[in-house]
Amino acid sequence: MKVIHSISQMSICSRKIKANGQSIGFVPTMGALHQGHLSLIKKAKRDCDVVVISIFVNPTQFGPQEDFKKYPRSFANDKKLAQKAGIDFLFAPAAEEIYPSNYCTYIKVKNLDERLCGAFRPGHFQGVATIVHKLLNIVQPNIAYFGQKDFQQAVIIKTMVRNLNIPVKIRVLPTVREKDGLAMSSRNRYLNEREKKDASILFQTLQLAKEMVEKGEKNSAKVISGMKKILGRVPDAKIDYVSIVNPENLEDVRLIDKKILVALAVWIGKVRLIDNMLIDEKPETRMTNGE
Ligand code: PAF
Repeated sequence: MKVIHSISQMSICSRKIKANGQSIGFVPTMGALHQGHLSLIKKAKRDCDVVVISIFVNPTQFGPQEDFKKYPRSFANDKKLAQKAGIDFLFAPAAEEIYPSNYCTYIKVKNLDERLCGAFRPGHFQGVATIVHKLLNIVQPNIAYFGQKDFQQAVIIKTMVRNLNIPVKIRVLPTVREKDGLAMSSRNRYLNEREKKDASILFQTLQLAKEMVEKGEKNSAKVISGMKKILGRVPDAKIDYVSIVNPENLEDVRLIDKKILVALAVWIGKVRLIDNMLIDEKPETRMTNGE
């Protein structure tokens, strides 16, 4: 595995790979690699000739009161994991090269970036869209891989790619979970043992939503209220949002009559966790009168 820190060196390598007729699979990360990242890498290795991952804790996607400074950084361990996973190139640029002091260009994906997490983390998705666009330009992958846990991020990136005609395919892969259902996330490292147990309430809440919808509940407000009741079992859980939205435009859904995304952001103590589930509404009962 080759570790690259400079933007120009990464671009030169990518151009050479492409000129050789090989395809590039790209997994952008902020490091603190876990099984979720490894599942994306595995798929990239299956699909593409060469796999590149980036490790860059992107300052522009953190708000002033957020955890940029204490975000887990474990480069030496990440390097070992990446090597073991069979990565070809690890791109880890310096913040000063990505955002020089005169940097002033940002990408905004309107409306989508204001819903769900966007309402609680102003500017977050502008930071995400900007860095992903920059990384796609530098790495020039054929396919880039993202996890479903960050569903809104994936919708925003797909929209940006479509709107700006960026020549890359975006693949979104299922959330990888702990045995108790907790979605894998680098931020799980902040949780102590008790909080980790409490955090499984997010998945239980999503499962309740799935059961209710599959049993035929069509009223979103009722599903959301059932979910909030379950979350209430954990005294330390503080809800940012519990929402039922259209998975394409992330607009609130009142009547569940097609596929929905149930999404939530909940603080467990001082740690903000997000999770979501795609749920199909109850299939129409078929007529069985022989017609
Ligand atoms: O999902 C992440 O880890 C980050 O938001 C990403 C896509 C690497 C951009 O910094």
